[in-house]
Amino acid sequence: MINKIFALVFEFFEKASISQKEKKYRNTFHICESARLGYLPHIVFKGNIEIGAYSYFNSGQIITGRNSYVKIGEWCAIGYNVNIHAITHDPSKATGPENERPAIESSVVIGDHCWIGSNVFILPGVIVGDNSIIGANAVVTKSVPANSIVGGVPAKLIKYKQVIDGQ
Ligand SMILES: CC(C)(COP(=O)(O)OP(=O)(O)OC[C@H]1O[C@@H](n2cnc3c(N)ncnc32)[C@H](O)[C@@H]1OP(=O)(O)O)[C@@H](O)C(=O)NCCC(=O)NCCS
Repeated sequence: MINKIFALVFEFFEKASISQKEKKYRNTFHICESARLGYLPHIVFKGNIEIGAYSYFNSGQIITGRNSYVKIGEWCAIGYNVNIHAITHDPSKATGPENERPAIESSVVIGDHCWIGSNVFILPGVIVGDNSIIGANAVVTKSVPANSIVGGVPAKLIKYKQVIDGQ
């Protein structure tokens, strides 16, 4: 009985915290009203972020620096545990005090109607063309042409999609 009460109390506070976080994210980032965010406790956004109409982002992280942005187009389906980073360490000096560590920063753009599979990692500077698919677990180091399906580490072209009218 006591466990049930604790679970209900926890659920109440979790719901309240999720709703607060969603409000904060929608006020802080450019998230279209019709775009949907998945399980908020598993989502971390930092920087300049735009998510277009009817897209959804299930879970993961989107991180940019001050001089970069991440733009996700319309009708995109973004899976679980997806990392999109417009800023990262410079391999020549990746550790040490923060103010002495250079960063590599370059905006990331995801086109319209893209499907990003779960556990995908997208590196700075990548542009994903409209209507493309990134297969699960890919590490995307280079831009991806429109209408393509890519996968692997590093991500390579698997095939081009058959284009359906209106997409
Ligand atoms: C990329 C994907 C869409 C391809 O689907 P598909 O068009 O049906 O492709 P196929 O299964 O016919 O595979 C075609 C080739 O790509 C390879 N492949 C498929 N998925 C791959 C992936 N994620 N990474 C690397 N290679 C992959 C297959 O092994 C096959 O290679 P082969 O021709 O040498 O045998 C799918 O495999 C995938 O990763 N979907 C994402 C699933 C997901 O993350 N869902 C949850 C989030 S919503």
